[in-house]
Amino acid sequence: MKLSILLSMAAAAVAPALAQNASTPGPDKDGKYEISAEGIRGLFIPYGASITNLFINDTHGIERDIVLGFDNASYYEIDPVHPHFGGVPGRYANRIKNSTFVIDGVEYKVTPNENNLQDTLHGGPDGWDYRNFTVVSHTTDSITFSIVDPDGKEGFPGEVISYITYTMTKNTWSFKMVALSTTKKTPIMLSSHAYWNLDGFANPDTPTALNHTLHLPYSGQRIGVDNILIPDGTILPNEKYSVNDFWSAPKQLGANHSAPEILGNCGFNCSGYDNAYLVNRGQNGPYDWRNSGPVATLASEFSGIQVDIFSDQDAFQVYSCPGQNGSLPIKSTQGLEGRKRVVEKYGCVVMEVEDWIDAINHPEWQREKKHIFGPEDGAYVLEAAYVFSVNK
Ligand SMILES: *[C@@H]1O[C@H](CO)[C@@H](O)[C@H](O)[C@H]1NC(C)=O
Ligand SMILES: *[C@@H]1O[C@H](CO)[C@@H](O)[C@H](O)[C@H]1NC(C)=O
Ligand SMILES: *[C@@H]1O[C@H](CO)[C@@H](O)[C@H](O)[C@H]1NC(C)=O
Ligand SMILES: *[C@@H]1O[C@H](CO)[C@@H](O)[C@H](O)[C@H]1NC(C)=O
Ligand SMILES: *[C@@H]1O[C@H](CO)[C@@H](O)[C@H](O)[C@H]1NC(C)=O
Ligand SMILES: *[C@@H]1O[C@H](CO)[C@@H](O)[C@H](O)[C@H]1NC(C)=O
Ligand SMILES: *[C@@H]1O[C@H](CO)[C@@H](O)[C@H](O)[C@H]1NC(C)=O
Ligand SMILES: *[C@@H]1O[C@H](CO)[C@@H](O)[C@H](O)[C@H]1NC(C)=O
Ligand SMILES: *[C@@H]1O[C@H](CO)[C@@H](O)[C@H](O)[C@H]1NC(C)=O
Repeated sequence: MKLSILLSMAAAAVAPALAQNASTPGPDKDGKYEISAEGIRGLFIPYGASITNLFINDTHGIERDIVLGFDNASYYEIDPVHPHFGGVPGRYANRIKNSTFVIDGVEYKVTPNENNLQDTLHGGPDGWDYRNFTVVSHTTDSITFSIVDPDGKEGFPGEVISYITYTMTKNTWSFKMVALSTTKKTPIMLSSHAYWNLDGFANPDTPTALNHTLHLPYSGQRIGVDNILIPDGTILPNEKYSVNDFWSAPKQLGANHSAPEILGNCGFNCSGYDNAYLVNRGQNGPYDWRNSGPVATLASEFSGIQVDIFSDQDAFQVYSCPGQNGSLPIKSTQGLEGRKRVVEKYGCVVMEVEDWIDAINHPEWQREKKHIFGPEDGAYVLEAAYVFSVNK
């Protein structure tokens, strides 16, 4: 489809929402925009088009704030750690090996920002989740952010225009991310980088998420990485009962923490998870991602809160927060009286719906059409729905 048509479609999608409610309230005193539906309420900010709070009532009817974030929008730009709290990593999520890639025989160098400047993580030192998006529409149950990423920014070729729409329906947070490459062929891969603790850090038995149960029913394989987490081209088996087996049965995140193989599973000297699991749905024939089963389920017994994640993406990154060390604060809406108000090691889990990481440097994977977009190509589109329920 031609770009002009795509742009007018994007404008048409946004316009009615604007016309419908020009008077919806803007941000609250903390700079956050609220959207809600029955059983769910979320707060968002322009910085990184980030989710900052997500409220769900637990099994005891107590409202829990189950994502990490800061108490106010202005702190995101100041905080020295920049943990990519709840934002949209872009224009290319995860790592780019050697900060280089080749398109049509031309080598591009993007700005490195990790591992002593050996690679580029989440779009570079001024990636999308370091910038304020524009709020183009805000109603009681939906918000759309946009960003114009100029040609050459962080070393990427060509301009990219993106629209990020978050919508609440009964017990469900959905999102649609659209990105259009308007001038040159360029890599695009987006995701949502929310950090979860389904207990809102209020579980008296543990400040961690190690007792959360994870199920990845389609993920019998993962992408092999080197010791700084750069894909090395291999696709590895998650053998039954191995530490990376989350497919054969649901398992607590901490279930295999005494197994020797957990050391080094998330990079050099790192115990835990920071892995891109593949989502293999091919054997089921044509499917509709919205209603043919979640790609992931995370649940906590303490709060009873469960999230089923539905997505059209072919990979799923899990980071179990082995790098957290008590230096990040939890929010005023979280925690337990008498406990330190910080994120402990393994206190959270990041789950990213995405495509195969660094596929731009692995043409043999044959995923170019899902990673490289030019003005003659269709839009990059990512869709997901996070459906919440409460177990008794
Ligand atoms: C939680 O329950 C209270 C009391 O019924 C209600 O006012 C509130 O809206 C609920 N919260 C959510 C996120 O649904
Ligand atoms: C904003 O949030 C940060 C982090 O939660 C906190 O340290 C700071 O005091 C807050 N500032 C204001 C003005 O509320
Ligand atoms: C981004 O938004 C935050 C919160 O509203 C604000 O404090 C900050 O100044 C903005 N930054 C820029 C570069 O506009
Ligand atoms: C790594 O990047 C440099 C440019 O910074 C380039 O000269 C070199 O070819 C790249 N190496 C590989 C293996 O791609
Ligand atoms: C528009 O705003 C009004 C007042 O805040 C609100 O009552 C109404 O539900 C909103 N309509 C939509 C479609 O969000
Ligand atoms: C991992 O934990 C599961 C569930 O408790 C167990 O079945 C499996 O044997 C464990 N694997 C290893 C390598 O410890
Ligand atoms: C919580 O996790 C720890 C460590 O993984 C484990 O020893 C303990 O049995 C778990 N508790 C429950 C209630 O599952
Ligand atoms: C490995 O990590 C442990 C703590 O998790 C630390 O004490 C140790 O110094 C680290 N070893 C190396 C070689 O970095
Ligand atoms: C904790 O982690 C932060 C962010 O990664 C880092 O800056 C800090 O040095 C670490 N602190 C300790 C005590 O390891």
